[in-house]
Amino acid sequence: MTTVQDQKTVEEFRKPTFPIDPLFINRWSPRSFLEKPVADELLFSLFEAARWAPSANNSQPWTFIVARSVEDQAKFHSFILEGNLAWCRKAPVLAMALSRKTENEKVYKFHAFDTGMACANLALQATAHGLITHFMAGIDAEKARQVLDIPAEYDIQGVIAIGYQGEKEALSEALQQREQPNGRKELSEVVFEGSLDQKVNFTK
Ligand SMILES: Cc1cc2nc3c(=O)[nH]c(=O)nc-3n(C[C@H](O)[C@H](O)[C@H](O)COP(=O)(O)O)c2cc1C
Repeated sequence: MTTVQDQKTVEEFRKPTFPIDPLFINRWSPRSFLEKPVADELLFSLFEAARWAPSANNSQPWTFIVARSVEDQAKFHSFILEGNLAWCRKAPVLAMALSRKTENEKVYKFHAFDTGMACANLALQATAHGLITHFMAGIDAEKARQVLDIPAEYDIQGVIAIGYQGEKEALSEALQQREQPNGRKELSEVVFEGSLDQKVNFTK
């Protein structure tokens, strides 16, 4: 079984070109969750980490709706698309990430970017404390808006499944095939020197 604590296993799949904090490599998005609740204090620390993310003009346009009770989770399950529902039903916590587009006279142009930063903080805090997270945009956003009565000034960014990693074998055959940390593009494909015409020499 690949667990977040089992850094060696994750490293088999993920080889950074330059040394980085192992936290970045160990955060990945498994689909197998244990049916084990997350203690309040630990869960709240994830939102505390999100709270300290940077944002344009410190606007902090993120908002989270947490679903932990059977009733709240049933509401979330009603709008999560089947492909995601197949694995996220066991997750003890689901959290919807909303980004606020306007507030009174203010327009938050970077609401989605800022909320992504907050979600990244949340995910890294989770990894650092033995939890896993899996972000899902695969939801019926219009239905979600109706079910949760979300006002028009908020965009729905997606739902984050949060919990403890379960055994790969608990997944369907098809999902077991996908249950491993993935790789990344080369640095030379995404970082340029001065202009997009000029490659950076990343050789050490
Ligand atoms: C905006 C966004 C939407 C995503 N939507 C889904 C989704 O609907 N279903 C899913 O299984 N994974 C989803 N993912 C997870 C990505 O597939 C995953 O983060 C990516 O493959 C990188 O893998 P890693 O998170 O394990 O490093 C989403 C991730 C992001 C950031």
